[in-house]
Amino acid sequence: MYKNILETAEYLRQRMQTKPETAIILGSGLGRLAEEIEVTQEFSYADIPNFPVSTVEGHSGKLILGRLAGKDVMAMQGRFHFYEGYSMKEVTFPERVMHELGIKNLLVSNAAGGMNPAFSIGDLMIITDHINAFPEHPLRGKNVPTGPRFPSMHEAYDKDFIRIVKEVAAAHDIKVQEGVYLGTQGPTYETPAEYRMFHAWGADAVGMSTVPEVIVAVHQGMRVFGVSIITDLGGFGEAVKVTHEEVTAAANAAQPKMALLMGELINRI
Ligand code: HPA
Repeated sequence: MYKNILETAEYLRQRMQTKPETAIILGSGLGRLAEEIEVTQEFSYADIPNFPVSTVEGHSGKLILGRLAGKDVMAMQGRFHFYEGYSMKEVTFPERVMHELGIKNLLVSNAAGGMNPAFSIGDLMIITDHINAFPEHPLRGKNVPTGPRFPSMHEAYDKDFIRIVKEVAAAHDIKVQEGVYLGTQGPTYETPAEYRMFHAWGADAVGMSTVPEVIVAVHQGMRVFGVSIITDLGGFGEAVKVTHEEVTAAANAAQPKMALLMGELINRI
């Protein structure tokens, strides 16, 4: 596995014309940000040795290099979800490669169901912590020698990054929530009882990504920032049916706010 990581990193290193320190996983809501990148190079996932290939609807798969907010960045357009059938090693393979290429900061976004009664659809939630409810752990197996066997997760989400984004949000009059993201395997959305249970566990939002990538990033000493777009609400009041279409619509509507916050953070890192 580690051999594959090094091999893929070597392939990219030989071709990359820049050496970015910040990478962005362009999850839901960050499409707009992708458009703002002055792209210098693109690698289709299919052309990168050992890279898994993205299959999910609405996510194209390529690794982008370019300039954004005055910085060199790397961006993943399309991420790998556990529900697509990938192993956790495959889901987090890109973050392993990023570390070998010198990436120090990882910024992620996602769409999530809100379970905190103070939340509204369309809210942005800064992730302050997470709960890993996936059935397989991304660090299971032989330890990759980029971090300890038993890594601490006491501050998975960088406090300085959170402070910066809160300052930017206040300056631009953008409402932001803060909370705990729970990552679960999907692909079903939660039953009303599951939403209530996750909220009782201490989660404010639930989604099907992010936690594996963040665990691996932290294992490698990266600084992480994450935001959820609250695309639906569950676990309180009447049970409401969630559809992929409304999740996508709410995520798209939040794009300008997301792009601004992420852009400003990149600029100040
Ligand atoms: N549950 C899980 N994943 C999600 C949700 C949800 O309610 N909304 C968007 N992604």
